[in-house]
Formats: sequence, structure tokens, C-alpha cells
Amino acid sequence: MSKEIKKIGVLGAGQMGGGIAQVSAQAGYEVILADISLEVATQGKSKIEAHLKKQVEKQKNTENDLKKILSHITPGLGIESFNDVDLAIEAIAEIPTLKFETFKKLDEVCKSSAILASNTSSISITEIAAKTKRPEQVVGMHFMNPVPVMKLIEGIKGIQTSDETFAAIRSVSDKMGKTVVVSKDFPGFIVNRILMPMINEAATVVHEGIASVEDIDTAMKLGTNQPMGPLALADFIGLDTCLAIMNVLHEGLGDTKYRPSPLLKQYVAAGWLGKKTGRGFYQS
Ligand code: CAA
Repeated sequence: MSKEIKKIGVLGAGQMGGGIAQVSAQAGYEVILADISLEVATQGKSKIEAHLKKQVEKQKNTENDLKKILSHITPGLGIESFNDVDLAIEAIAEIPTLKFETFKKLDEVCKSSAILASNTSSISITEIAAKTKRPEQVVGMHFMNPVPVMKLIEGIKGIQTSDETFAAIRSVSDKMGKTVVVSKDFPGFIVNRILMPMINEAATVVHEGIASVEDIDTAMKLGTNQPMGPLALADFIGLDTCLAIMNVLHEGLGDTKYRPSPLLKQYVAAGWLGKKTGRGFYQS
């Protein structure tokens, strides 16, 4: 297996995928950014450009840097454009069957030495890896939102992931300027195992009428120095995502302490998904 990574394929040109493509290009990698169509991938690249332009306006980047970073990103036509990448990073929707299908296809298209990484926040890497013929080259690279800002990558070792594969993604993460923590492949890994029960408990405190949404967030911001309160963060992440992760913790760990808050369930049922729908715990 070749360990030197030069070319990265990012699948999914949404918020996470776009961020991953940006930090990969900033680190000097050649990047193919692909989605369900070339048009969607091109839109993803335009969003990266808009973000970089803001950085130039704020004088945090130069026009030359912007051009250089963008020149490293080529929109691609789906998984087929990943035939010569050294590392494929999947950042598509958190739907298990879709991830499994996608990894089967990545395994068929990508060269045999390529590493296949998933940005999943909650699906088992071991299970994803088992859908391929190269499970030792499948690994989790869980980026945090917003990717260009957040310094962490959770590296997830499936039971079959080789040390060589993990060393390769650690080196890529270092080049991106990120810090890697290592987690075994159990529900929620590290961040969501701890973060989501906190968000869920904050929803329960609202539901029980103990405090207002604003006061809960102010308490946690000023009382524990968090940049945003748990309910604002839930809106930022998406209440559907928070609920899906709570369900994974509840089912995967089998402990009633992970039971999703009924209020969180009700908001999701109402379509109040947070920032992306304009209403969650807050209304914009
Ligand atoms: N994309 C890229 N950059 C962004 C951004 C975005 N969506 N939002 C903000 N930024 C950048 C800004 O451009 C700015 O950059 P500069 O300092 O270089 O100018 C910087 O972030 C700070 O932005 P603002 O001044 O506008 O806003 P802020 O100071 O209030 O910070 C925040 C915004 C970075 C989101 C901050 O509130 C924060 O860190 N919040 C917590 C985020 C967090 O916990 N993320 C993890 C969620 S969990 C997860 O992702 C895992 C999962 O599986 C659910």
C-alpha cells in the first residue's frame, strides 16, 4: 500500500465536504470534489471561493493564496472521478444504507492502494469497512463543523483498520493543521458520546420548564466558557442530526440514560430542525 498521499477525493460538496476540500487544498493536496452531479460539485467549489474571498477582505488571506487554493480543487463527476486518488474522504448524508452502497462503489473505483475514510459522526466504521474488500484501509476521519475553524479530527479505528492506514491519515491531518484524537469504534466515538447527552439534557431542562432557552445557553456560555450554548449549538448542528445521534447512542449502548428528549423528537417531527429551517430552539 502506498503511504504517500498526494491526491484526495472528497465525496459530498455540502458544508462538511466543502470544508474538508478547502482544508485539504490549503494543505497543498490536489483535490477532486465530487457530488451527485458536476453542477452540485461546482456549486460546492463556488461556496469555498466565497468563504475564501471573505478571508481576503478581512486580510487573513491574500488574493494569490485564494487563487492557489482554488487551483488545487477540481469539481468531479461522482465517484468515477476518484480512480487515481490516494485518499477518498466521504462526507455524504448520514444514512447507513447510502454509506454502505457508497463504500462498495468507492472500493470498486479507487485504486487498490487508496485509503477510504468516512466523516461519519455515528455510523460504525467496522460495519462500513466490512462492505469493502479492503477493510484494513478503511478508517474514520470525523471533522467538526465549521471545518476550516475547528482544530479537531477524531480518528476512528474500526476493528480491522491497520496501523499503517491510521498513520497515513494522522500525517494528512497534521498537514491540515488539525489535532487528531484516537477513538475506538463505539457509538458516538468521543465527541458525540459526550456532547449529545449534554444537548439532550439541555432540551430536557427546557421541556421540564426549569429555565428558558436563552438562560440555559447563557448559563453554559458564561458558566463553563463554551463559545455557544448547547441549544444554539443544537440549532447549528441540526436537530435532526442531534436526534439521529441520540438514537444511535440509545440503540447502540442500550442504556436508558441515552433516551432522546421527547421535546427534541417533537421539534424534529414538526420540521423545526434549527438554523437550516429557520426554526429550532431559536427562531431566525
Ligand atoms: N465556515 C467557515 N468558517 C466559519 C464559519 C463557517 N460556517 N462560521 C464562522 N467561521 C469563521 C469566521 O470566518 C471567523 O473566521 P476568522 O476568525 O478567520 O475571521 C471565525 O470562524 C469566527 O467566526 P465569527 O466571528 O463570525 O463567529 P464566532 O466568533 O461567534 O464563532 C463559531 C463562530 C466558530 C461557530 C463558534 O461559535 C464556535 O466555535 N462554536 C462551537 C462550534 C462547535 O462546537 N462545533 C462542533 C459541533 S459538533 C460537530 O461538528 C460534530 C458532529 O458530529 C455533530
